[in-house]
Amino acid sequence: MHPRPRPILPRLLSAAPLLLLLVACGTSGETLTDEGYRPVFHFTPASGWMNDPNGMVCHDGEFHLFYQFYPDSNVWGPMHWGHAVSEDLVDWEQLPVALTPDSLGYIFSGSAVVDQGNTSGFGAATDPALVAIYTQHDPEGEAAGRNDFEYQSISYSTDNGRNWTTYPGNPVVPNSDRIRDFRDPKVIRDSAHGQWLMVFASQDRVRFYASPDLKDWTYLSDFGADAANHDGVWECPDFFPLAVDGGRDTAWVLVQSINPGGANGGSGTFYFTGDWDGARFVPRAEPAYPYTDSVKWLDYGRDNYAGVTWSDVPASDGRRLFLGWMSNWDYAQQVPTTTWRSAMTVPRRLNLEDGPHGLRLRQTPVRELEQLRRPAEPVADGGIPADGVFEMEISLRDAPFELVFDNQANEELRIGYRDGHYYIDRSDAGGAGFSDAFPTGPDTAPRLSDAPTIDLHLYFDRSSVELFADDGRTVMTELLFPSRPLVGYHLNGGEPVTDRVNIWPLKAADN
Ligand code: FRU
Repeated sequence: MHPRPRPILPRLLSAAPLLLLLVACGTSGETLTDEGYRPVFHFTPASGWMNDPNGMVCHDGEFHLFYQFYPDSNVWGPMHWGHAVSEDLVDWEQLPVALTPDSLGYIFSGSAVVDQGNTSGFGAATDPALVAIYTQHDPEGEAAGRNDFEYQSISYSTDNGRNWTTYPGNPVVPNSDRIRDFRDPKVIRDSAHGQWLMVFASQDRVRFYASPDLKDWTYLSDFGADAANHDGVWECPDFFPLAVDGGRDTAWVLVQSINPGGANGGSGTFYFTGDWDGARFVPRAEPAYPYTDSVKWLDYGRDNYAGVTWSDVPASDGRRLFLGWMSNWDYAQQVPTTTWRSAMTVPRRLNLEDGPHGLRLRQTPVRELEQLRRPAEPVADGGIPADGVFEMEISLRDAPFELVFDNQANEELRIGYRDGHYYIDRSDAGGAGFSDAFPTGPDTAPRLSDAPTIDLHLYFDRSSVELFADDGRTVMTELLFPSRPLVGYHLNGGEPVTDRVNIWPLKAADN
């Protein structure tokens, strides 16, 4: 929402290709349109418009994925919560719409928790309810020029999210201060302080509230008016503790989406690391950054927005699991698909590391994705599959290189490294014309590792690429719309550490 003009991008790439090292081609003359762009192992709605992931919660062996959904159109409109469930984060079953607009307004983004202990009284101690906490946006109030048209509401379910009851006392957090952008509550259990904790975006900051029962909320504090980036509106925060380097020290991570103002323009997501004392978030002191500015971007690509993490992942699993909306408000409503619009990123595990760049998140695709590999062993240097759906691993020495992926229409997607930065350049990869804001390139990201070897892990799914560099220390997610599938690649420059490039063709997930 709220698109504004993009900043001018830095141009890092100028050198001509150095060395043609590898060539591999498949065959495909298929011209891609609509369904041809639909990813096969990323979540997409069967039809209609989708944006942010919402209400991600784990309960009774199911991962729930709710999402901003407008079933009647392929552009944004009156927001519902769509719903899907998965047992393994790979195959998804699409379920009927969970929440529909009511007299208080559209159902905007939010979260869900298992009410362990039945603090709300909505379920039973032995059979806790799922409670969804979300923003309601009153379009009439907005049209009438009011400023208090967004507030937080709750609904609950006692049948694993299949049916929902609206709490009659809504809204549970009214907008008494009349703030125009007042939305996207994320609720977590703050067990150290025996309270439910809500964080939501309030224009240029986040607000924290506490509750004993998910119904009565008390304002605690706010954070961020003077911090990080304010080139756009803050949206969709997340807040959770993570062990530093897997050890005993725990830091709190405040994930914050902003639109516009992203790392390479448009929508983007950054994060803070610090401490939580039960009432206040205080960022930890950080080393001086050798790169750009003091903003820690969760993803430097253009197409990972509004991402948050799953609640109630069992302790026996123990992972902090993240998923984002794989698009950008700069052009999300114009991308060249018709019956459906937008996909989610692959689910990713988040870890927190302490290093020369401060406390940093490391993101790795969830291991469950390995079940999509066919065959299970990589096809070394075997060419890329003709359908443009594959996973790739390549290791190179710390020196400039460019990987070029191309197709029979001579379109090229370039992914490279130069001057301490990775880049993805989709400016010649097709898709021109549907939006002035697309394509763009090169989009850049700092390398945040000093290892002598650069390890790249890439996922391609027809109209997207996700780059996890240096074991997920730098991540870039980008959409692309080539007119034909990418079927070949070659490496310009660079020194592969081995002569092996691992490629796995990937099969489609059930979706
Ligand atoms: C982020 C966002 C949220 C809002 C939702 C509306 O993409 O603008 O702030 O709740 O989308 O669909």
